[in-house]
Amino acid sequence: MTYPVLGLTAEELLTTTRSVRRRLDLDRPVDPALLRRCVELATQAPTGRNRQGWSFVVVTDPRRRADLAELWRRGLGQGSGPMSADDRRRAYAKPGSMEKVWSGLQHLGENLHRVPALVIPCIEGRTDGLAAAEQAGRWGSLFPAVWSFMLAARLHGLGTVLTTGNMAVEREVAGLLGIPYESVMQGGMIPVAHTIGTELPPGAPGAGRRGPPLGRLVSRDSHPRGRTRPRPASARVGTRRGPWRTAPGVHSGSAEDPGRARSPAALRTRRGTRSGPGRVPGPSSGSAGGLDGPWLTLRSGPTDDVSR
Ligand SMILES: Cc1cc2nc3c(=O)[nH]c(=O)nc-3n(C[C@H](O)[C@H](O)[C@H](O)COP(=O)(O)O)c2cc1C
Repeated sequence: MTYPVLGLTAEELLTTTRSVRRRLDLDRPVDPALLRRCVELATQAPTGRNRQGWSFVVVTDPRRRADLAELWRRGLGQGSGPMSADDRRRAYAKPGSMEKVWSGLQHLGENLHRVPALVIPCIEGRTDGLAAAEQAGRWGSLFPAVWSFMLAARLHGLGTVLTTGNMAVEREVAGLLGIPYESVMQGGMIPVAHTIGTELPPGAPGAGRRGPPLGRLVSRDSHPRGRTRPRPASARVGTRRGPWRTAPGVHSGSAEDPGRARSPAALRTRRGTRSGPGRVPGPSSGSAGGLDGPWLTLRSGPTDDVSR
């Protein structure tokens, strides 16, 4: 089954996938199969050690949405409060910017129960009290998929906004939705609806859209706030060109296996064994779940190719 997509270029998709609150169409239902397709696209995202421990709870039942919205509102109250000192500083630096976010948030809060689908992305395992390395591996295995889900939704004319109101009341939400809290962690909640109109504005260009100029966000070879000089070449360990440097035209291996270089042809062949060269698999009619029940969790099993 195919679904209509907006005629966006890749750059337009990346620049116009915005947080949508006021322009969520609260009166137009979303086809559960379309939500499922967006999840399916999201599960193309990378995960640490190819664990693929995501699950997505897609809440569409009206009563359950109302209960979840109520918890979310409570969670928001327990969160970081309406405006931190930093938010206030930014609001004064660029008048209107934060007020817009907060008034949109208020609109969302008042209407959350009316949003046709509330999606909770989850990841296997909890990070409470863990070191940064483990936190990075876990959260970093969830949010590429979350963002892909949001991009896929935008591509299909749906609006989303990543929220975290459920996190302060995560245990209660887990109880409501049957999420095994001790072993599965929620990562936020994404209200999803068709957008009212399909045009969304890009943010201001470049990383500077959040304030700091690009030069303060990116720098070569050391952090912008702690510049250090690279060691002279003669002092480096490994080969003369550096231990991980590969010959021109040869792709380096994955970050987890940097020494294994593969040619583009080899990469194409490996991919070809799964779904054809460069092709995204189409919507499957398999039994990994469906959206015909009031709510459910979709899971995706591990793939056989751990080296992609
Ligand atoms: C980690 C994270 C948490 C967020 N939490 C919320 C939230 O709880 N409620 C909300 O309305 N927006 C939330 N947002 C959306 C941001 O407010 C939004 O991305 C920001 O205002 C910029 O708007 P834009 O996405 O349209 O560029 C969150 C975004 C991120 C990345």
